[in-house]
Amino acid sequence: MSLVEERARAIFERYAIREIRFPVLERMQLYARSTGETTDIVEKQMYTFTDRDEGETAVALRPEGTPSVVRAYIEAGFDRSDPEQRLWYSGPMFRRERPQKGRYRQFYQFGVEIFGRPDAACDAELLIMIDELCHDLKVPSSMEINSIGDAKCRPAFRTALVEWGRAHWDQLCGDCHSRIERNPLRLLDCKIDAKLAESAPKSLDYLCDECRMHFDQVKELLTAANVKFVVNPRMVRGLDYYTRTAFEIMAGGLGAQSTVVAGGRYDGLVETMGGAAVAGIGFAIGVDRLALALEAAGTTPDHAPDAAIVALGAAATRHATAVARELRASNLKVEMLSPERKMKELLSRASKIGARFAVIIGDDEIARGVVQLRDLKQSTQREIPIGEAARAIADARGV
Ligand code: HAM
Repeated sequence: MSLVEERARAIFERYAIREIRFPVLERMQLYARSTGETTDIVEKQMYTFTDRDEGETAVALRPEGTPSVVRAYIEAGFDRSDPEQRLWYSGPMFRRERPQKGRYRQFYQFGVEIFGRPDAACDAELLIMIDELCHDLKVPSSMEINSIGDAKCRPAFRTALVEWGRAHWDQLCGDCHSRIERNPLRLLDCKIDAKLAESAPKSLDYLCDECRMHFDQVKELLTAANVKFVVNPRMVRGLDYYTRTAFEIMAGGLGAQSTVVAGGRYDGLVETMGGAAVAGIGFAIGVDRLALALEAAGTTPDHAPDAAIVALGAAATRHATAVARELRASNLKVEMLSPERKMKELLSRASKIGARFAVIIGDDEIARGVVQLRDLKQSTQREIPIGEAARAIADARGV
């Protein structure tokens, strides 16, 4: 398990979020209804095929997790019986995109979805959790947030964008021409003329009082928790279900694909998909990208063992196996080296794998109940009773 996955699981645990698993294959219709008919994902990126069942159902490899979680949530009846649920998931997602650094056709996400919490404190809690994860992983990152309004105030923003798009028709790209009527929010994503988008209307100028208050509270809570963020009024996200808070976390060293975490609120989605009117919010971590960011930041995981066991001779090998077990029982990372090599080779192997200690055991050591503990970092060696080896190794951690 990668360091990213290990830390993500640990943090979800601390935030009392439960795991959910769902299929890799879903009905294609699920994504058309939730991710959105006019999104890039549904229009061109899904791997779809027709199942050989009677109804010749169109199915798709999941391009994201949110729709499946919402489907499962409704099918389990949580929307009516027990709406407040905190769920996380992980696994491969599939999108037919042009592969490049940080963008793959099969990639891995860790996601969180929280239902039944329309309050701003929930948005803040999620963002604080992401901030904690990035600190924990020592990934230099920046957080951008925005509010894109709700069903009440979004129509006015939409109309303003359509008008702006028509007024700038000649300067817009072909993709944007088709977006004007179908999905005008995506005009702000135009990569061809990012400068032009600066003159476009901003969602924040169209928020209704409730949405504005919600966003103000999110910002206030983040500030109180010392989380650094910037408001990016151009961020709209490429998926249809978002309402109110939207956010992206960017990391350095990734080139064009710098967004490592993304998400937002989707208060209308459960209802759109046939459930009760229950609020939702969530995000997904791009595990591959975060791993690349770790590499770029030089914080690659430490796989080095605490100790390498060097056994000299047949009797020592039997004995060393028991010693290795004892050390592992004390939570130490231990590698048994091949007993068929010479001492010199074994010590150089121990250094190569980055072991802090070599625990050397020969017939003489067995007879006297000791081991030779060689500190490979400080190039020192001492003899200690076998029973004290675990403590001595653990004490030297971080020294
Ligand atoms: P998304 O922005 O489509 O959101 O993806 C989330 C993250 O997955 C991205 O920020 C990126 O790190 C990673 N990602 C996406 N596509 C690729 C790719 N082709 N290769 C590598 N990494 C990729 C969602 O998927 C939403 N379901 C997030 C969400 C959950 N919103 C609410 N709840």
